[in-house]
Amino acid sequence: MNATTYIKERFAKEDDVLTAVRQGIKDRDMPSISVAPETGNLLSLLVGISGAKTVLEVGALGGYSGICLARALPADGRLVSLELKQEYADFAHENLKQAGYGDVVEYRVGEALDHLAALEQEERRFDFFFIDADKANYANYLEWAIKLANKGAVITADNVLWGGRVHDETNQEESTTYLRAFNDLVAADPRLEAMMVTTGDGLIVARVKDSIS
Ligand SMILES: C[S@@+](CC[C@H](N)C(=O)[O-])C[C@H]1O[C@@H](n2cnc3c(N)ncnc32)[C@H](O)[C@@H]1O
Repeated sequence: MNATTYIKERFAKEDDVLTAVRQGIKDRDMPSISVAPETGNLLSLLVGISGAKTVLEVGALGGYSGICLARALPADGRLVSLELKQEYADFAHENLKQAGYGDVVEYRVGEALDHLAALEQEERRFDFFFIDADKANYANYLEWAIKLANKGAVITADNVLWGGRVHDETNQEESTTYLRAFNDLVAADPRLEAMMVTTGDGLIVARVKDSIS
């Protein structure tokens, strides 16, 4: 048994609520690209440990990660989730309602970049960010997250190992190069303290330094 299997068997057992969401996504022929169970578990932990009250998610799909984020929020917590497709946002909302978080979450449908600009106009600020949408815009989402961050906010981003392609220097696919560039940006950004963890498909965990908020 390798370390990943050992860890997964102990710490990443999916509960019935999340299993039903994953199945619902398959049944609707939506892409099976929700976070891995271990990433979902880690996101819940990070939201809880950070004490975040306001979370912004970029990329909702069927609400799998949304449930993981929402379940770690305090009673007065709030999740804003940005999703390109109305049908996905509707299904995600249905699943969040089913899980008991229907009133915690607010879905905004359309291009995430437009909504991020609108959130800035509305002077909304967040304690925790989860980036999990189109890879071409990861660097833009990072900039927006830093703009919309409360003091000490946490920024996370999924798929940063991209199934091993990111550290395979022979791989020059477009999505791989976007993720590589994103990882390098995060690592070098003086406004952030950051680490990449190998959980799931790789997760960036960064904290916005107090001095820039
Ligand atoms: C990897 S899936 C998100 C999975 C979800 N975070 C989860 O783990 O349950 C990426 C989602 O981002 C959405 N998306 C892609 N491009 C987008 C954009 N420009 N603006 C907003 N959402 C986008 C897709 O429709 C898709 O639902």
